[in-house]
Amino acid sequence: MNIIKGVRTLGQFIIERQSDFPYAKGELSRLLRDIGIATKIVHREVNKAGLVDILGDAGSNNIQGEEQKKLDVFANDQFIAALASGGECAAIASEENDEIIHIANSVSKNAKYVVCMDPLDGSSNIDVNVSIGTIFSIYRRLTQVGTVATDADFLQKGTQQVAAGYVIYGSSTMLVYTTGRGVNGFTLDPSIGEFCLSHPDLKMPNDGALYSINQGNFVHFPEGVKDYIRYVQEDDSATNRPYSLRYIGSLVADFHRNMLKGGIFIYPPTIKSPKGKLRLLYECNPLAFIAEQAGGIATTGFDRIMDMQPTAIHQRTTLFIGSRNMVQKAMGYMQEKA
Ligand code: AHG
Ligand code: MN
Ligand code: MN
Repeated sequence: MNIIKGVRTLGQFIIERQSDFPYAKGELSRLLRDIGIATKIVHREVNKAGLVDILGDAGSNNIQGEEQKKLDVFANDQFIAALASGGECAAIASEENDEIIHIANSVSKNAKYVVCMDPLDGSSNIDVNVSIGTIFSIYRRLTQVGTVATDADFLQKGTQQVAAGYVIYGSSTMLVYTTGRGVNGFTLDPSIGEFCLSHPDLKMPNDGALYSINQGNFVHFPEGVKDYIRYVQEDDSATNRPYSLRYIGSLVADFHRNMLKGGIFIYPPTIKSPKGKLRLLYECNPLAFIAEQAGGIATTGFDRIMDMQPTAIHQRTTLFIGSRNMVQKAMGYMQEKA
């Protein structure tokens, strides 16, 4: 008799992997499950965004003065609700909230973990039906369980992350995460409403021929970045140059493509954003953790992202992330012109 090989759902996979953490009692698994639930709800709304009245602006601004889109607010609310009712998260730092959100119910006060998130990444792409994402990062809290979590619980180096992941709402919806033991990707099968393991043990190629940067800002880039761009545009078939430029404007989508195909993403300092645009806690650190777990690297252009000591929840940093050899090459140009 032929036994049909069944799918492995995210829920099953999380339970199987629980034994990776000898001291964990299942809280982290439940936290990942809660994030998976919110993701499915956001997926549902993203997919019908053109049908119902959730496109466009919510009429408010977040702390960084950016317009909040309705779907930003919706996704934020869904993740907060799922984490609050799950009981494993003591507090949340979100791009959409100026201050950290305390989950004040009696269960969550005793939770061990805090979560940083960018609930909706690539907001400018919502209204035009282009891929968007969600990014999350999980830390064990530093303050005592049973007390109110504080900013200090979030201002930990990226090396302290216990898990991190992203969701891409693309031609299909995928959830990719790591707990420090490799990276695994799951694709949502909408017919059964489950994330199914589709990309086990993801590895990023060491080299590639794609580069992602908002090259429209070229005049505002530092000399090292300009030199690197000139390098990738040179003609040299032995090193696959010139590379192809691919830039979506959703970090998650640009990162995901480069991870699968090999490539580099750069958000350099510019005159407008001298420290870069992307946020350390809920954009750069989680993707850096995933990149490293997949064999890639993530730096500021000079130093490892995950070694940065954060000083503010919404802190920004420059980001050079992707295939190992490509990022190292770009860093070489940065050092030359430092
Ligand atoms: P968010 O939508 O969460 O604010 O993030 C947008 C970010 C990121 O996704 C993307 O890589 C970057 O902004 C694009 O910025 P530019 O338009 O300046 O290139
Ligand atoms: Mn973002
Ligand atoms: Mn966002």
